[in-house]
Amino acid sequence: MKLRKISETVSFVGAVDWDRRLFDALVPLPHGTSYNAYYVEGSEKAALLDTVDPSMADTFFAYLAQRPRVDYIISHHAEQDHSGLIPETLRRFPNARVLTSAPGKNLLEAMLHLSPDSIQIVKDGDSLSLGGRTLRFVQTPWVHWPETFCTWYEEEKILFSCDFFASHLATSGLYASDDNRVLDAAKRYYAEIMMPYASIIRKNVEKVAALQPKLIAPSHGPLHDHPDEIVETWRRWTDPAPGREVIIAYVSMHGSTRSMVDRLCNGLSDRGVTFQRFDLTTADIGQLAMSLLDASTLVLATPLVLNSAHPVVLHAAALINALKPKLQRAVVIGSFGWNAKPLEQAPTWMPDLKLDWLPPLSCRGLPRAADNEAIDRLVGDIASKHTAATA
Ligand code: FEO
Repeated sequence: MKLRKISETVSFVGAVDWDRRLFDALVPLPHGTSYNAYYVEGSEKAALLDTVDPSMADTFFAYLAQRPRVDYIISHHAEQDHSGLIPETLRRFPNARVLTSAPGKNLLEAMLHLSPDSIQIVKDGDSLSLGGRTLRFVQTPWVHWPETFCTWYEEEKILFSCDFFASHLATSGLYASDDNRVLDAAKRYYAEIMMPYASIIRKNVEKVAALQPKLIAPSHGPLHDHPDEIVETWRRWTDPAPGREVIIAYVSMHGSTRSMVDRLCNGLSDRGVTFQRFDLTTADIGQLAMSLLDASTLVLATPLVLNSAHPVVLHAAALINALKPKLQRAVVIGSFGWNAKPLEQAPTWMPDLKLDWLPPLSCRGLPRAADNEAIDRLVGDIASKHTAATA
């Protein structure tokens, strides 16, 4: 396995995980992922930028075995898919120092039980000379943990960005320009873990964009060899202006709620309102998260079961609440047998979102003519709000 050179002084020492299908026991990975670590060498010292997920230790140490020294381990982010092999790397290179941010030190000590003596804190603007080669540290907190920062390689204008600008995508090539799936994977990645921190990330985007990198080297997925495209895309995703679509996320047990959803979708189509529809029993929650970036209205549709909204709908609501999307309004609709009261609790399912809740709409069993008319009025209400927003 040959070392993968990015330039004369930079090598990729990460690992591509083609088979992984779930991250954080939550996030689907339909196209696998990679854990990107980098090795930068000057005339006097060498720095390792992050490690990889411990499941890929063999690949990582096979690369490192081809390099003679590690003087510094720069830990941009304490999550274990990047930090997990720091203890073993320190055993193999006992003279190495771990460089990280102040909150990073705190987290590494907690997560990996690293000795405080092995860690040196670096601050925003601090630089590290490797001998003719200079690394400068750029604090970019909350992308997506509090300790995150980037490293700027001055001579080669490379931004090592860790999870910032990353994507879960396993590829044989190193560069984004070789794979047209990258922006879709990057959108999924942003939506699944970055969305709650959009406002602070937006500031961080401008901070690193001002450096005018020639190459952005993230910790997952291909490297951005045309960085303007991914930077501009993150600008758009972090823009606080809401999207223009409607999301309809539903569960149906015996067809009544699905019938309501069908009528709603047909009505929105007739009015020219764009929507995305998800059957939550089979939906890819990554696709649901991505749709939130483009939406301003959420329709949750649920039958009543166990004296409650359907648990699968409640799970989706909890996830949407945690992601803090740019939604403006929401409504719950659904069918019931003998008690529709739980639908009135819908605002409590997403307590952290400031939403304009439209009145809930329920029908007993299969919709009758009067129920369909109520759905048509809801369609009109949603359509008029969307038309007004785009006028
Ligand atoms: Fe790739 Fe937040 O770890």
